[in-house]
Amino acid sequence: LADTDLSEEDLLADPVAKAQESGGLPHPSIPLPIDLFEPVRGNSAGVDLNDRAVLADLAAKIARVPVLPAPAEADAGTLIGAAAAAAPAWASVSIDAQADVLDRLADLLEARREEAFALLVHEARKTLPDALAEVREAADFCRYYARQSRDLMQPVPLPGPTGETNVLRMLPRGVWAAVAPWNFPLAIFLGQVVAALVTGNTVVAKPAPQTPAIAAWAVALAREAGVPEGALQLLVGGAKAGHALVSDPRVAGVAFTGSVPTAKRIARALLADDDRPIVPLIAETGGINAMVVDSTALPEQVVRDIVTSAFRSAGQRCSALRLLLLQEDIADRTLEMLAGAMDALVVGDPAHPATDVGPVIDRAAYDKLMARRAEMAGRIVKTVAVPDSGLFVPPTVIRLDSLDQLDAEWFGPLLHVATWKTGELDDVIARVNAKGFGLTMGLHSRIARVAEAVESAAKVGNLYVNRSMIGAVVGSQPFGGEGLSGTGPKAGGPHYLARFCVERVTSTDT
Ligand code: NAD
Ligand code: ALA
Repeated sequence: LADTDLSEEDLLADPVAKAQESGGLPHPSIPLPIDLFEPVRGNSAGVDLNDRAVLADLAAKIARVPVLPAPAEADAGTLIGAAAAAAPAWASVSIDAQADVLDRLADLLEARREEAFALLVHEARKTLPDALAEVREAADFCRYYARQSRDLMQPVPLPGPTGETNVLRMLPRGVWAAVAPWNFPLAIFLGQVVAALVTGNTVVAKPAPQTPAIAAWAVALAREAGVPEGALQLLVGGAKAGHALVSDPRVAGVAFTGSVPTAKRIARALLADDDRPIVPLIAETGGINAMVVDSTALPEQVVRDIVTSAFRSAGQRCSALRLLLLQEDIADRTLEMLAGAMDALVVGDPAHPATDVGPVIDRAAYDKLMARRAEMAGRIVKTVAVPDSGLFVPPTVIRLDSLDQLDAEWFGPLLHVATWKTGELDDVIARVNAKGFGLTMGLHSRIARVAEAVESAAKVGNLYVNRSMIGAVVGSQPFGGEGLSGTGPKAGGPHYLARFCVERVTSTDT
C-alpha cells in the first residue's frame, strides 16, 4: 500500500462518479424514481428508501392498520404430525403448480404491503425504509425460488454409456423445520419456508418469540396464495419449542438462521439420538464483520458507508459492520468526519419518516448492549443523543488498541475501531480470519490490486468493495457465510434449493 505513483489502471473507478457519467446509479440503496415495487421484479432496485414524502405517506397509511394479536402457542409434536400427514399430497402437486403458489404469494405480499409494513414497524421495531426493503426482499425470495424450482425439480436424463437409461430426480425430503430470527421476521422467515415448500416438502415454521404476529400474518398469506393448510404449520414459542421441533425424528431437515450458540445447540440435538437418520442442517449465523479502509479511499463515501453499515437498523443485521479497521494515517480525519455524520442521525420512533435509527428489539438486547457501552466507557470516542425513554441504544464508536480486542458479535449500534500501519494489511486480514467467523467484510480502497489481494485472502461469504456492507439482492448477491458464520448454501443463490432435496438416480437396462 501507500504507493504514490499509481496509474489510472491501478485505481478502482469511483462508483458514484462512474454511475453519474453513465446516467445510472451504482447501488440499489441509492434512490431511483419511485414506484414502491417496480420497475425491476426479482430484485430490490426501484425502491426509494430515502424519499421522506413517500415515507410520510406510508407512515400515515400504516398508522390506520390494526395491530394483530400474537398467535397462540401449540405443541410441536402435534404440528409435526400434521405436516407429516400433509407431505404426500403436497409432494404430488406438480412442479409448476407449486412454483405458481410462490408467485401468487409474491403478488399478495406486494398488494398487501402496508399491512406488512405496519407489523414490521410495530412488532419488530423496524424503521420505514427497513420495513419497505424487507417486504421487497420477501417477495424477491418467492419469485426467485419459484423460477429456480421450475428448472431444478425437473428429472435430468444422464448419459448411458453402458446401454442403460439413467435419470436423476430431485425429490422432497419430508418435513422441514424452519427456525427464524427476529431481525428479518418476514424475509428470512418466508425465505426458508418457501424454499422448503417449493421443493415439495412440508414445513413446521418457528419464528422468533419476539415476532410471532408477523409470522402468523405471513402464514395466512401463504395459505391464501394456495399453500394447503397442512403443508405449513406455525410453531409459536422460544428455545424450548425450537428444541422440541428439531429434536423430533420426523423432522427431515432444519433451516436455521440465528446466533452461533443456537446453531451449535441444534447441531447437537440432531445428533443426540443414535437411531435418527443424519439430517441436513442449513445454519446461517452471525459474524464479527470488519471493514478495511486504506488511505486511498474516498473519505465522504467511506463515512457514508460506515454510517449505513454500522448504524442502519440499529446495527441489528447479521451483515452489519462491527470492526472498522482504518489505515493509521487517515484514522483521525475519518473519525472526525464520522463524528460529524453521526450528529446528523435521527434516533427515535421507528414509525416516524425522519428516523434513521430506531430502538433495539427488546429489554434483554438493550441491557446487554448498554452493559458493553459501560464496560468500554473509557474508550468511547463518539456517541449521540437518544430519546430519554424507550429501548434506544446510542450509536457509539469505541476505539480499541488492537483489532484482537474484539472477540464477540455485539448485535446493535456499537462500532469498534482499530488502526493498522502501512505494510500490515496481510496480517490484518489474517487476524480477522483467525476470529473464526466469515460472514461479511467491507473494503474501501482505490487500488485494484489491494481489492484483489483482500478478495483472495479474506475468508468471508460476502465481500463488499467501495460500498456499504449491508443488504444483499436476491439472485444477484446470494448471502451467507462460512466458518462460525454458517454452513451454506447461500440464501437467494442458485444452490440453495438443492439442499432441501434428496437426489435419486434410476438406472434402467434397455
Ligand atoms: P437466536 O439464535 O437467539 O434465535 C434464533 C431462533 O432460534 C429463534 O427462533 C429462537 O427461538 C430459536 N432457538 C433458540 N434456541 C433454540 C434451540 N435450542 N433449538 C431450536 N431453536 C432455538 O438468534 P436471534 O437473536 O433471533 O437473531 C440474531 C442472530 O441471528 C445474530 O447472531 C445474527 O447475526 C444472526 N442472523 C444471521 C443471519 C444470516 O443470514 N447469517 C441473518 C439474520 C440474523
Ligand atoms: N439480509 C442481510 C442484510 O440485509 C444480508 O444485511
